[in-house]
Amino acid sequence: MADSTPQSQETLSNLLHETRSFPPPADFAANANVKADAYEHAAADRLAFWEEQAGRLQWERTWDTVLDWQAPYAKWFVGGKLNASVNCVDRHVDAGNGERAAIQWEGEPGDSRTITYAELRDEVSRAANVLTELGVGKGDRVAIYMPMIPETVVAMLACARIGAVHMVVFGGFSVDALGQRLDDSQAKLVITADGGYRRGKPSSLKPAVDEAVAGRPAVENVLVVRRTGQEVDWTERDVWWHETVGGASSEHTPEAHDAEDPLFIMYTSGTTARPKGILHTTGGYLTQTSYTHWSVFDLKPETDVYWCAADIGWITGHSYIVYGPLSNGGTVVMYEGTPDTPHKGRFWEIVQKYGVTIAYMAPTAIRTFMKWGEEIPAEYDLSSLRVLGSVGEPINPEAYVWYRQNIGGGNVPVVDTWWQTETGAIMVSPLPGVTSAKPGAAMGPIPGIDADVVDDEGNPVPDGEGGFIVVREPWPAMLRGIWGDDQRYKDTYWSRFPGLYFPGDGAKKDEDGDMWLLGRVDDVMLVSGHNLSTTEVESALVSHPEVAEAAVVGAADKVTGQAIVGFVILRGGGESVPDELLQELRNHVGASLGPIAKPARILAVPELPKTRSGKIMRRLLRDIAENRDIGDTSTLTDASIMDVIAKQLPK
Ligand code: PRX
Repeated sequence: MADSTPQSQETLSNLLHETRSFPPPADFAANANVKADAYEHAAADRLAFWEEQAGRLQWERTWDTVLDWQAPYAKWFVGGKLNASVNCVDRHVDAGNGERAAIQWEGEPGDSRTITYAELRDEVSRAANVLTELGVGKGDRVAIYMPMIPETVVAMLACARIGAVHMVVFGGFSVDALGQRLDDSQAKLVITADGGYRRGKPSSLKPAVDEAVAGRPAVENVLVVRRTGQEVDWTERDVWWHETVGGASSEHTPEAHDAEDPLFIMYTSGTTARPKGILHTTGGYLTQTSYTHWSVFDLKPETDVYWCAADIGWITGHSYIVYGPLSNGGTVVMYEGTPDTPHKGRFWEIVQKYGVTIAYMAPTAIRTFMKWGEEIPAEYDLSSLRVLGSVGEPINPEAYVWYRQNIGGGNVPVVDTWWQTETGAIMVSPLPGVTSAKPGAAMGPIPGIDADVVDDEGNPVPDGEGGFIVVREPWPAMLRGIWGDDQRYKDTYWSRFPGLYFPGDGAKKDEDGDMWLLGRVDDVMLVSGHNLSTTEVESALVSHPEVAEAAVVGAADKVTGQAIVGFVILRGGGESVPDELLQELRNHVGASLGPIAKPARILAVPELPKTRSGKIMRRLLRDIAENRDIGDTSTLTDASIMDVIAKQLPK
């Protein structure tokens, strides 16, 4: 059932003049978990609201104080005690839902496993017993360097159960990145696997761990899951998961931890500087991930099948594969591999196979699917879907509309959720049963969150103007600091605007007062004295029917300060690109955003450089645009892309 929305190509849209908006379907709104009154209710007494949300969890001891705020340090639910793994597992079994699937796991080669809540409790208990036997205790750090397999979730929850602090390192990261994180966190144990399946073949993990732990005596043991069966080197330090966890007792009495006990450290993948170990604690984090997963995705745990396509190595995987969904007793689909293995319909095959009702993914994935063509998802039955989410970077309006139409059948709410590793949970997003969402806009802060757009001086901007997003009041899932570097915590987030949390993103309020997130402030260009965001120009480029993806940078220019250079991937590839088309694209941007935004140059390229979490590395494109040698490419998914791009370009 498609609605009467104009097709994307027919509407020339951009962030300043976007007029489309999609109200929730009436039956969805009527049955939604959260109604419009939630905003008022939360605003009337913010702390009472969060206290109410904390009541969603099972506490061993209730808190004495909701919030202790000694800026910039927050403590939430002070004096409260709870166990995160009990909240994510045991209590659902105790409530009679032990037979419900907690995890529907799909391996890349097509093998699959269903793990019920009762099975998950047993496995987490066994793993917790083994961690204790290996000498891991409360407060110790445990590194987890794993493929996307159920044991990764089990390992995280086992740490949470005994009060150890997990530190998941994305399985695609190099030995150096792993080593750097081991040094910083001083992890005592590494949990890994022989390897995992990616792009149709086993990739290995254990050799990288072997290399990283050699010469790092702080690591006492390496616990290894057998996934692929490939040969691995073995030392005295190494322990097989199946030989230990496999035979351990499934009886484990969990201890209650303090609400402010550390739950995990997640390193943000800084593209230049040393990564920051973002620290999250237990009670507040679990409260906000649980509430947001239930409210923003309208989760009905009895009937929904929820799939988040992120990797567990990112915060999205922590908050919205593990802690949010499982604390709510939901059924989570987890997929090991890549979207095009063995074919480009893999994601939609998974939606069809499991009857996925809620799907959450990144704009970079959505744009890739656009490029592959809408006939691919059209081959699958996607009618089970009822909510779609986007996260990780600004979603271009055209990608949003494509997602809504071709994946959501034109009648499904799409929530563009803005948040960060540091915020721990969703902060700005439409609510699917309440908000008339505009394509590309995160719309506004969720209930209980006080965020705004301010100018250079920290004053709120009027509607229709741009500035910086800030958070005014502390929130339950906020980071509690940077591991071992207090000064950096203050400098990075609290020095730009005194008394306000500064996430580092640009944002705009439109004429209706709705919020548009524009990406990192470093991605703002200054052209002849005008501030323009790379996102706006990219969205204008992607709104042209020939363009599948675009990345825009500001290159130093003697005349204009910065000149806009656009890199585009054309639909269907296109080896030789006529100059007229590139000229047409420049004019198209000029027509949609105004002459000031017309790119000085547009280059057609076969690929764009992206970090492993899917963010475009504009720094490298700027190097090319300014004819410089290309800098550090170690965080790229595929460093050879830069050679390919450089070779294509006229010097
Ligand atoms: O720039 C914003 C962008 O991603 C940054 C946070 O990245 P990370 O800590 O890796 O967490 C990603 C998953 C939450 C933000 O500072 N970002 C994230 N979501 C959006 C976004 N930008 C625009 N719109 C979004 N929905």
